[in-house]
Amino acid sequence: MTEEALLELTKKKNTSSPNDRIKELYARLSTQQRDFLGLQLSQALDFSSLAPFLNIHLNNLGDPFVSNCATLNTREMECEVLDHFAGLWHAPGRVPLDPDSYWGFLLTMGATEGNLYALWNARDYLAGDPLMHGGSGEKNRVPVLFYSEDTHYSITKCTRLLQLETFHKLGNGLYPGLCPITKDGRWPDGIPSCDGSIDPKHLAALVDFFVARGYPPIVFLNVGTSFKGAYDDVESVWQALLPVFERHGLRIRATENERQDYWVHIDGALGAGYLPHLEKAKALGLTEERVPIFDFRLPYVSSIVTSAHKWFGAPFPSGVFMTREKYRLNPCAQAQYVVTPDSTLASSRNGLSALILWYAINNSVGDTPARVASRCARLADYATRRLEKIREWHPGFWVKRASASLAVRFPTPRSEIFERFGLSADGGASHIFIMPHVTRSMVDALAEALSAPNAFEGCV
Ligand SMILES: Cc1ncc(COP(=O)(O)O)c(C=O)c1O
Repeated sequence: MTEEALLELTKKKNTSSPNDRIKELYARLSTQQRDFLGLQLSQALDFSSLAPFLNIHLNNLGDPFVSNCATLNTREMECEVLDHFAGLWHAPGRVPLDPDSYWGFLLTMGATEGNLYALWNARDYLAGDPLMHGGSGEKNRVPVLFYSEDTHYSITKCTRLLQLETFHKLGNGLYPGLCPITKDGRWPDGIPSCDGSIDPKHLAALVDFFVARGYPPIVFLNVGTSFKGAYDDVESVWQALLPVFERHGLRIRATENERQDYWVHIDGALGAGYLPHLEKAKALGLTEERVPIFDFRLPYVSSIVTSAHKWFGAPFPSGVFMTREKYRLNPCAQAQYVVTPDSTLASSRNGLSALILWYAINNSVGDTPARVASRCARLADYATRRLEKIREWHPGFWVKRASASLAVRFPTPRSEIFERFGLSADGGASHIFIMPHVTRSMVDALAEALSAPNAFEGCV
């Protein structure tokens, strides 16, 4: 905050009533929302009819499928929402003791919470901790995490919190100078990707290196990266990994008595919400866009996470974690005062999330979600072509869009434009995300602003 803005805020705090401050805040945020193009956050929200629920504390403490005495909850809606996602992601329906049945819960944070939980589950599963349906597995193994250079920065928080070994950390610590994918043997921070999608050959070479030394792999894949909105090609990754696993004798499928020797996690913060609807749009002939498959149709996918506030839209962070019964660990915590085991991460969980998502899903039925997805895909294509015209005014201007991505990237403009459109930047590049609230006229307004002679500080 600048010194000027700080002075202004102090003045306001001293002179305005709480009511005036709320009005002023609402007006400012509404203005910002009108032009908001930057982060992958849908602003297509209409939850006013749920306002009465703001006066009830809603808490979905504990496992969504096990009742407990925290009665002010929306677990009924939560289970329906989870069933809906199981359908979207082609998971078998919920049958509690069936090893292939899905299990999951709604998150109180966003994808970060889900990724943290997935990695915790993956680490302890591969390290042989007792399962919910079954005993302990092979002990004393150290799982290693693999992820691309385009992975969301929160991966670092997750690995630190969980003290999880990564190929980078373990490589630097025990095998300096031996990285099999670099000329000088140095270990990169993330696995190289091509326009945002992980390079399967590099991934396989790294996995080979560690599996040969006895480390079971956790493979973390992105379905919609944070900046480029790119998709890791999950099927190509598996084709590259399978021969490595077979060569080293890894167990490919969990059975009743034996675990599998790897974990594939899908961070679908945006893509796991968007792609199922785009796939439906393609089946309806509404789009020609490429639709990568990432979900439980692929038997090697162990867990999926999405942020509900990204594609679906919610007035606060929320999301979905899903896995299968057979991968679940024995809950390490007993929620004593509600007398059930707590198999989730947070204790109190946001009951409004379930209500909001249930409402959003039930008010967008039939072909509507597919039509929204195909409209966004078309608009992303339009935005790319529209912004390319800016070269007429700024010859050094460039535009990039990864295959089937909702993100369009271009050089970072002056701060006034950057702030007006709520852009976000990585180095010298900015992006917009074509989310359900974005319209052609918003894209045109941005294009017009970027065409101005003084739109860029550098020599674009
Ligand atoms: C790929 C990816 N993973 C994780 C996250 C973190 O999600 P959240 O902010 O919902 O915790 C993001 C956020 O943009 C993301 O793009």
